Amino acid sequence: MTVITNKSDSPNITLVASGLTKSYGQTVALRDVCLELHAGTSTAVMGPSGSGKSTLLHCMAGFVRPDSGEVALDGRRIDRLGERAASKLRREQFGFVFQSDQLLSELPAVENVALPLMLAGVPRSQAVADSKRWFPALGLDGLESRRPGQLSGGQVQRVAIARAMVVGPSVVFADEPTAALDRATGASTMSVLTDACHHAGAALLVVTHDPEVAAVCDRSVTMRDGRIVATDTALGSTHSAVGAHRPPIDSTTDTRLSPFVSSRETPR
Ligand SMILES: Nc1ncnc2c1ncn2[C@@H]1O[C@H](COP(=O)(O)OP(=O)(O)OP(=O)(O)O)[C@@H](O)[C@H]1O
Ligand SMILES: [Mg+2]
Repeated sequence: MTVITNKSDSPNITLVASGLTKSYGQTVALRDVCLELHAGTSTAVMGPSGSGKSTLLHCMAGFVRPDSGEVALDGRRIDRLGERAASKLRREQFGFVFQSDQLLSELPAVENVALPLMLAGVPRSQAVADSKRWFPALGLDGLESRRPGQLSGGQVQRVAIARAMVVGPSVVFADEPTAALDRATGASTMSVLTDACHHAGAALLVVTHDPEVAAVCDRSVTMRDGRIVATDTALGSTHSAVGAHRPPIDSTTDTRLSPFVSSRETPR
């Protein structure tokens, strides 16, 4: 792989998009978009429908190849990988949380969480054991054998968060993770997600229409017509206040073995 030439000097930089453009026919979805994601911090992407938020997420996660520009993970370009390499990278380095319908309905919750580990070659018993450790940490104690249809919307999203975190990802991508939830459940889901990523040292990118979701992130960028038109770094006061009580992030920690207990969440 090519080492990107303009890597930032920032030590905890994880994923960098530089000069991304993407068009679909006559529609320009991204125009020269640059964004850096830092380990252990959260970034919200806001903006009107059609402004390019999901396209940006898909380009940074390697689902969509940009027409031009670069995406680099820890200094290595990932925007020109073949499909097999891109999907391996997504499995091993990235976690994903979507709006809904992301769990396999026929599998118990714990096996949904274990799936990315098993796909990465971890033996089933080990994958299930590692996955179980996330349930109390995310307020899901006792729900391990429920199927998705037997869980509330908020519980489904927590299982999806556990599934995203279980591989110890460098980056977690979330596209409208609270859009199908009521306000209070959305707020607690976001706090679980930001705390999990912060504690695990993962960079979090959240696409959202909801200013309350953006407000719990460390930083918010606003897109319009395929461009980033504003950046607000004065966010995340709630998150920072809680984060101040956490131990420093240890990059050598195997996050699969150390799910945390959120200071703001009590198991149901
Ligand atoms: N696969 C595709 N084929 C054609 N056009 C696309 C495709 N994906 C996105 N677009 C177009 O690119 C533009 C940006 O779309 P994108 O999905 O990134 O917007 P968004 O900001 O996520 O919107 P929303 O808030 O509605 O999800 C839109 O005009 C959309 O119609
Ligand atoms: Mg979208």
